[in-house]
Amino acid sequence: MPVVTCIDDLRSMARKRVARAIFDYVDRGSYAEQTLRANRADLEALALRQRVGIDVDRRSLATTMAGHEVRMPVALAPVGLTGLNWADGEMLAARAAERFGVPFTLSTMSICSIEDVASAVQKPFWFQLYVMRDRGFAASLIERAKAAGCSALMLTLDLQIQGQRHRDLKNGLTVPPKLTLGTALDVMTKPGWALNVMRGRRKSFGNLEGRIPDAKSLTTLSQWIAGQFDPTLSWKDVEWVKGLWGRKLILKGILDAEDAKIAVQSGVDAIVVSNHGGRQLDGAVSSIRALPEIVDAVNNEVEVWFDGGIRSGQDVLRALALGARGTLIGRAFAYGLGAMGEAGVTRALEVIEKELDVTLALCGLRDVRDASRAILRAA
Ligand code: GLV
Repeated sequence: MPVVTCIDDLRSMARKRVARAIFDYVDRGSYAEQTLRANRADLEALALRQRVGIDVDRRSLATTMAGHEVRMPVALAPVGLTGLNWADGEMLAARAAERFGVPFTLSTMSICSIEDVASAVQKPFWFQLYVMRDRGFAASLIERAKAAGCSALMLTLDLQIQGQRHRDLKNGLTVPPKLTLGTALDVMTKPGWALNVMRGRRKSFGNLEGRIPDAKSLTTLSQWIAGQFDPTLSWKDVEWVKGLWGRKLILKGILDAEDAKIAVQSGVDAIVVSNHGGRQLDGAVSSIRALPEIVDAVNNEVEVWFDGGIRSGQDVLRALALGARGTLIGRAFAYGLGAMGEAGVTRALEVIEKELDVTLALCGLRDVRDASRAILRAA
């Protein structure tokens, strides 16, 4: 077993083990991937201030996100097709998150269903909602998430229409994964994945099967999204979802200060500054560059969370320094899952926790809640 010291190790392992179409789905972004790269580059460009001569014994990473106690300000982001990286991946990731003490968010586009995940954990998890054209179906997803005891709903606003991911088209990504002449050669080099995922029970969209026509039949993901997702989704629908849900509501995909102000008006509990991990509007600003203006615009009226490019505890601290109360990791945990299943998700969380803890200390802080712009060097 290789020694895993950083998220990139998990990525390398996942790349070797997971079928290329699935690995690329997780790893890559839309169009020319400018925003995907900017998310990372702009995080790395933020210099932390090294401070010395300060007692940094007895540190604390614990805080809350939308009233939920978290061991560190990191939640697992909704990631579509998680269960194709490792069989039953959503159940495993939810369990790893629960044991670790951070929230898990189940994607609408998951392989394991809401009910599957509920059967795998004891504590409430979160559910991410895509609003489909069939509003009755969207309402039924909300009801199922309630019945499963989910404590927060994350409504994604930045994917009512899908940005093109060239790799998914070139790889012929389908759900369930299909063996073709084009994919056979690759899959032959990934026997661990093939035995585990291809022979596993759950291979299509667990939340949709039997409820939406075509959910079980072979289809490219992009065609399916174009057919089912509702492009009319608007702020009025946020009200509609809020009324049906009645519990903590988080809006994901805010990248502009004007939208953040509207989100505050809609009375939600948190917003996630996000460009969908560089998978949607290519050419959009990086999440970390958008963060400060959004934090300023909402003026503490709503919790601001951050995602987009986090690969380390240093990145988490950079986002906190710019005013995020919490962060989400998507690829970082999906690599861990693809590399080593549940143990890999735990490892990803441990890596980030350790990095966050040490980095906090080297910046001269003991409590993660004290992170502020003061720990960043002025550009
Ligand atoms: C879905 O959320 C995706 O980014 O593919």
